[in-house]
Formats: sequence, C-alpha cells, structure tokens
Amino acid sequence: MDDTIVEMRHITKRFPGVVANDDVSISIQKGEIYAILGENGAGKSTLMSMLFGMYEPDEGEIWIRGKKVNITSPSYATKLNIGMVHQHFKLVENYTVTENIILGQEPMTRHLGFLPAVDVKGSEQKIAALSKRYGLEVDPHKKIEDVNVSTRQRVEILKMLYREAEILIFDEPTAVLTPQEIEFLLNIIRELRKAGKTVILITHKLEEIKQVADRCAILCRGKLIGVYDVASTSTREMANRMVGREVSFTVDKAAMQPGAEVLKVDDLLVRDPDGVQAVKNVSFTVHAGEIFAIAGVSGNGQTELADAIAGLIPACGGKIFLNGEDVTALSVRERTLRGVSYIPEDRQDVGLVLDFDLAENLALKDYFKEPFCHKGVLDRRAFDEHGKKLIADYDIRSGQGISTQVRSMSGGNQQKAIIAREVELESGLMIFVQPTRGLDIGAIENIHKQIVAQRDAGNAILLISLELDEIIGLADTIGVMFSGEMRKIAPAETLTANQVGEYMMGVKA
Ligand SMILES: Nc1ncnc2c1ncn2[C@@H]1O[C@H](COP(=O)(O)OP(=O)(O)OP(=O)(O)O)[C@@H](O)[C@H]1O
Ligand SMILES: [Mg+2]
Repeated sequence: MDDTIVEMRHITKRFPGVVANDDVSISIQKGEIYAILGENGAGKSTLMSMLFGMYEPDEGEIWIRGKKVNITSPSYATKLNIGMVHQHFKLVENYTVTENIILGQEPMTRHLGFLPAVDVKGSEQKIAALSKRYGLEVDPHKKIEDVNVSTRQRVEILKMLYREAEILIFDEPTAVLTPQEIEFLLNIIRELRKAGKTVILITHKLEEIKQVADRCAILCRGKLIGVYDVASTSTREMANRMVGREVSFTVDKAAMQPGAEVLKVDDLLVRDPDGVQAVKNVSFTVHAGEIFAIAGVSGNGQTELADAIAGLIPACGGKIFLNGEDVTALSVRERTLRGVSYIPEDRQDVGLVLDFDLAENLALKDYFKEPFCHKGVLDRRAFDEHGKKLIADYDIRSGQGISTQVRSMSGGNQQKAIIAREVELESGLMIFVQPTRGLDIGAIENIHKQIVAQRDAGNAILLISLELDEIIGLADTIGVMFSGEMRKIAPAETLTANQVGEYMMGVKA
C-alpha cells in the first residue's frame, strides 16, 4: 500500500546569488521519521519552509495526501495539518504559555450567555491533555520570558499539536538542548510516531538520526544527493556522503606547551538580573598555549562567567586579571583592545548585527582602527577586502558574498562568521562559548582544528561547551561547574568522561 503523505517534486528555489534548492524531489510516508541532513547552507530550512508555506517554490510541485497544493502561507499549511518548530523560536515573550499556544486559534465562548470571550479554561484543558499524553510538561501560566529554552520548545511543540498537526517539522530542535533534554525530546518524537504522526527532523547530529529516524535525505549545496535507509547506513557513511570527503571524528593535538599566565579569575562573584548568585567565588587560571575547557549542564553559571570575563556584565566581587593587569572595571572595548576575543552563546542577540551586511559584521570589533578607519573616516574598501579574505579562509557560505545581509544567512554560516571575526583578532585570550552549536560535522572539524591551532600559536583558550565529547576531545585542563561553583579543576588526561559527567550532575563534590 502506498502511504505517501508528502511529496515534493522537482522543487527549485532561488535567492539572490544562490540556488537554495535545485530540483529536489522527496516523498515521505505517513508515520515515518524522516531526517534531513546536509552542510550549513545546503538548503534544509528553505526546503521545509516551503512545505510550511513561508516561501513558495520557483519551480516544482507539492502534493499532500495525494493532492496537489499551493501552500501560500503558514496558516494554509496549518489547515493541511502541517506544523513547524523553527531553528530560531517564534514565541511572544510577554505572553503566557497558554496565550502563545492558542494565539490565532482562540476558542470563543460567551460570558453570561452573550458576551464574546476567549475560552481560556477550555483551551487549558485541551493543553493539559496534550501535555499529559506526550510528556510535554509546561506551566501554562508562566510568561515565555521567564522560561528556559527547553520549555520554550515544548511550547512550540504543544502549539503544533494544539492545531492538530499531523506532519510535524522540527528544524534543528536539539541544537539548543542539553544531552538529557535531547533524550527526552527523542522520546517525545517516538511517541508522536506511535500516535501515527509523520515527523520530519532536520539535524546535524548523526547519532540522533541513528536513534530515531527511518530514512535520511542528504542535501548538498541545494541538491539532493540521495535518500538512505538509516538502519543499514553507518554514521560514517552518512558523514562522508554529506561532506563529500572522509571526515575525522577525533581531534589531533600534540601535548600542550604552556606559557605565561594570561587569564586569572580570582574569587569571582556574579549575580544574575534578579540578584541571584550565578557565579559563586570562582577562581582559576588559563595560560598561553592552554585550552581550559569548562564542562557543565546548561544554566550552572557558565554563560554568566564568560559574560563577566568579556565585560558584558559586571563582577559583584572578586577580580579578573589579563596578563597580570586588573581588568575587572574595564569596558568590553578596553578588554578587546588588550586582547580578548569572545564567541558568545547567543549569536543573534549578542554576536551579530543582523541588518548589517557580512563585511560590516566581520569588522565589528575593529572597524574604528586602521585599516578600516583613517582619522575617523571609514574605508569601505578595507571592509570589503577583509570580508572577502575571511569568507574564503573560513568557508562562510552566503548568497551575495560580502554584501549579503547577515539575517538571510543560514544559521550555521552566521556562526562561522562570528568565529572568523573573533579568531582573526588574534587575541591572547579567546573565549569560545558553544562554538560548534548548529554547525555541520565538516565545519565542526574545521573549527576544532582552528581552536587547536590558536592554542599552538600561544594563545590562551577558554572553551565552554555543553558537549562532553567536545570538552574531552579538546581540553588540556578541565573545569566543571555546578550550581555556580567550580567543582573540579584537573588536567584533562586525569579525568574520564564518566567522572566529568558525575561532577556535572553534582553527584561528586
Ligand atoms: N531569506 C533569504 N534570503 C536570501 N538568501 C537566503 C534566504 N534564506 C536562505 N537563504 C540562502 O539559501 C541557502 C540555504 O539556506 P538554508 O537556511 O536553507 O540552509 P540550511 O541547510 O538550513 O543551513 P544551516 O544548517 O546552517 O541551518 C543559503 O545560502 C542561504 O544564505
Ligand atoms: Mg537551517
């Protein structure tokens, strides 16, 4: 029996300077988990955005349940029972969980028998039933701005289910989650399949595909390379097909040659906006030529620690020294000028100016200096030359080269742009927070090589990551944070992944 629910036939989509999808044909069966894999900028989000009605294809046809359709808007996609959780969430910050879920689909009732009103009670019951059925726990009365990313994601999923989606598209849902949350989400996805739903999963993580998907489509520079049966294809095969070359999963690095002390954090205390201690009297040092990696479950003070060292938020106690100089009271720019590079966790809010073009974003940290600025006058040509060089050196892919507006770039390529800019500063201290989040495996391999190269060039590296593999693979020294405290500091070779995991969970003190 043919149970095809989605068919995309010969889909082509062009953006200025780039063919995002080039004659792509896929067909998806009802009740399967269908993964889509491909390098950053390969066209995954674009393909699925067309299925969800955010763009229309330039050529090709979409068939849903055996009928040809023109999906001209997300609301029409919703009518066809198609839902999507986007790579960058789309919720209203100052609305509650319930309000976000029912937004646009408010069930009406009558107060006192005649006054029209939103039936909040009724929708709350429906939401509660859905939460229970799929294990999607949320507090319906909390405002979105007060909940963490994994809750936000649950809200997005509930929103789809509330609209009775049967075809559920997830665009890199696990990029922002911790390993425990990922396990949880994969279980939810399995439950959705059990309930007969069709799931399309875009991800860069081959292990996840192995764990849940039935088939996997691989895209490369807009073209479909092939569709593979997951059970009979190894992760290595998938990786090689996708990147078009042999990919190495391990990092080659020589023993470290530590030099002078570059960063010294002494008894640092940082409070979050509510006055709660986020970083509690943390002390450590990082030397030239050393990768000091901080492991920890998300939300244990790592982000605040990095922000405080970079100067984005103030220290409430303790001191930060850079090459022996007390920089605790200095501004971000003063620290940058003394040699601090920072790849922040939030690439869209802190890392980039989305409405600027790529050349401008690549010079954000030094536009006020030579060669970009002569006596207060900006030199556009210098921006362009610098931009072109970085695009080539870091393989940043975009439609229109240096003049691409950064907002239109794929998520992974936005991240590569930040890394290029910050590494190029050649700072003595480089702070990398989640540097490979959302990157494809080929790009991850390159970034890891660059981090090691920067260490070998004598720079001090502070790496903060939620990926234990990344920590174990790169670290010379490992620090583990739990509940705002630095629970353990030790040479990397003296700790196993399991031991680090135990400190991360607070089991070991
Ligand atoms: N709105 C847009 N305007 C112009 N170009 C766009 C737009 N959206 C996507 N593109 C371009 O289309 C190409 C495919 O982008 P897409 O976001 O689909 O990639 P992706 O496979 O999802 O990558 P990633 O893994 O980094 O998220 C990229 O070159 C991107 O710059
Ligand atoms: Mg994408």
